[in-house]
Amino acid sequence: MQTIAQTTAGAALTLTASWLSNRLRRFALSAKGAERVVIAMGLFCVMAIGMTGSLTALDDTVFPSTTLKDALAQDFSSNSQVLLRLRILHPVVAAVAVLYVLWMVQRLSKNREESSGILSFLTATLLAQVAVGVLNVLLLAPVWLQLTHLLVAEILWILLVLASSDLTFSDQHCNVPLSQKGTSEITRAEARSNRALL
Ligand code: HEM
Repeated sequence: MQTIAQTTAGAALTLTASWLSNRLRRFALSAKGAERVVIAMGLFCVMAIGMTGSLTALDDTVFPSTTLKDALAQDFSSNSQVLLRLRILHPVVAAVAVLYVLWMVQRLSKNREESSGILSFLTATLLAQVAVGVLNVLLLAPVWLQLTHLLVAEILWILLVLASSDLTFSDQHCNVPLSQKGTSEITRAEARSNRALL
């Protein structure tokens, strides 16, 4: 629940900052119904990685392992606690979700005339995060690597939210001469375009 609340709040902040960064922009819904479902599932997939990741982090804290062999034996032993056996869920969910998001980016960016730079960043961050996750398992999750994994997860979520917004809405810049801008002019132009939209 906490992961869902955190990711939703993060998404709301990211979109607010992004949309307020250019107040002369207007948005039009450009993704079709099926595309919107694909995008929503991508967001849910990454949320699911975060939820299972929190479980793995809890396991690593409560049941720390001293060797990799020991950790793997704990994960697969039928005598282990249920919580420990659930640890394997995170890499499995991550692998499926990463493949899904890569497919989503590839599929939806094909229909756009100009591909957004965010999509390339998103792809690179996804792959980097998988590498950091694998390293986390191999090195038995030292604190510095846990923090790195968490930081990259936050960056990844922000990039996914921005990419999803790019894929869902198309930008319509208002016709305002930005070269002669001053705050009051922008405000006036904005008021004019608001009136035009009404
Ligand atoms: C895009 C892919 C991934 C994302 C977004 C992700 C995200 C996360 C998150 C949010 C946590 C919880 C961190 C915390 O609460 O402290 C976590 C923990 C963990 N993840 Fe991942 N993960 C990904 C892939 C992987 C993969 C592929 C592996 C292993 C093969 C992995 C191994 C771990 C481990 C061992 C932990 C527990 C230690 C820690 O807290 O860092 N992760 N992950």
